[in-house]
Amino acid sequence: MKESTVKSLAEVGVYSPEQLADLFKQLRADFERDAAGVNDEVSWKTFRDAWLGRKSGVIANITDYWLKKAPTPELKKAVGQALNEFRAHVEATIEERRVVAEAAAEQAALGREKIDLSLPGVMRPVGTRHPIRQTFEEIEKIFLSMGYAVVSGPEIETPYYNFEALNIPEHHPARDNMDTFYMEPPSDVIGGALPSGVSKIEPRLLRTHTSPMQIRTMEKQKPPVRIIVPGKVYRRDNPDATHAFAFHQIEGLAVDTDLTFCDFAGTIDYFVRQFFGPGTKSRFRPSFFPFTEPSVEFDASCIFCGGSGTAASGANCSKCKGSGWIELFGAGMVDPAVYGYVKYDAAKLSGFAFGIGIDRLAMLKFGIDDLQVFTQNDVRFLRQFP
Ligand code: PHE
Repeated sequence: MKESTVKSLAEVGVYSPEQLADLFKQLRADFERDAAGVNDEVSWKTFRDAWLGRKSGVIANITDYWLKKAPTPELKKAVGQALNEFRAHVEATIEERRVVAEAAAEQAALGREKIDLSLPGVMRPVGTRHPIRQTFEEIEKIFLSMGYAVVSGPEIETPYYNFEALNIPEHHPARDNMDTFYMEPPSDVIGGALPSGVSKIEPRLLRTHTSPMQIRTMEKQKPPVRIIVPGKVYRRDNPDATHAFAFHQIEGLAVDTDLTFCDFAGTIDYFVRQFFGPGTKSRFRPSFFPFTEPSVEFDASCIFCGGSGTAASGANCSKCKGSGWIELFGAGMVDPAVYGYVKYDAAKLSGFAFGIGIDRLAMLKFGIDDLQVFTQNDVRFLRQFP
């Protein structure tokens, strides 16, 4: 029927108001059918343009072809009246259908966006604690349970704290295996005037061990002292499977009026059993450090072969090289000379100190054979330590 609106009334054979009324009736039936087919925004737009479109919508066409070209004034008047009435109906219906189509669209969107509480949540990758960090925490826990306090200190040190006050004088050979990174004083003080009251700029270095914190702690507090110091340390070492220029230690220091070598050995033995398991034994061998006397190295019975030195295959255990023992760390009774630097009374006090290499313990504990993987930041490695 819509096609008839692009023809003149004569062409569709309409000459009287009665015929015209009939024509509008059919058109209206067409329109109602179209309206019923509208079910979403897309079909609504097509529907609206077909009937109300400015250029070639049915209403515009009727105006152009029927009204303007009406052959008689009588018919023109009849077209005018019928058109007005029809236009009002078309406009009202189109508005009605718009509301319906929009509601349907909203309903559909709601259906799509419905929150399903039974769906699994979104995993946020939060990462894990680094195996070195985990080892630190485990050791801290063991010493905290024995009443030790955890303290930390600067990684940039003066030679005084790193060496001198630990009884390592300038040309002492003990400095040889503790070569490190030195920092130049800031350029504005080299050759320039020193700040008032400063006679000489002390060089700075990256600490080679956590032992300087023994001195800093004793300078600050009166005995008794029971501390551990977790931290990073630096040495001029070439990287390989067991060496890195930056690694980790936990320093331990206990000073009191009645501490004996028995307390010392018992403390380490307790630590070794807590850390590696109750069946683990400990032993010590003589060693040398300028700031302890006597100095020792502690070993633990090999956790891989149970201390037998023989692997399950019957061959020598590769981890302890058949000895049944694994080297742990250096330690000793605090050298009385050290007390002199911190104004402690060496005649009344005694104590012990130890310096645990964390990287080595982490490697043993987790069965890692290359130190470098700790700092390569490969997530495939790190994810193995949840
Ligand atoms: N500071 C020593 C080192 O790094 C270890 C140590 C600490 C030895 C405390 C004795 C006492 O080699």
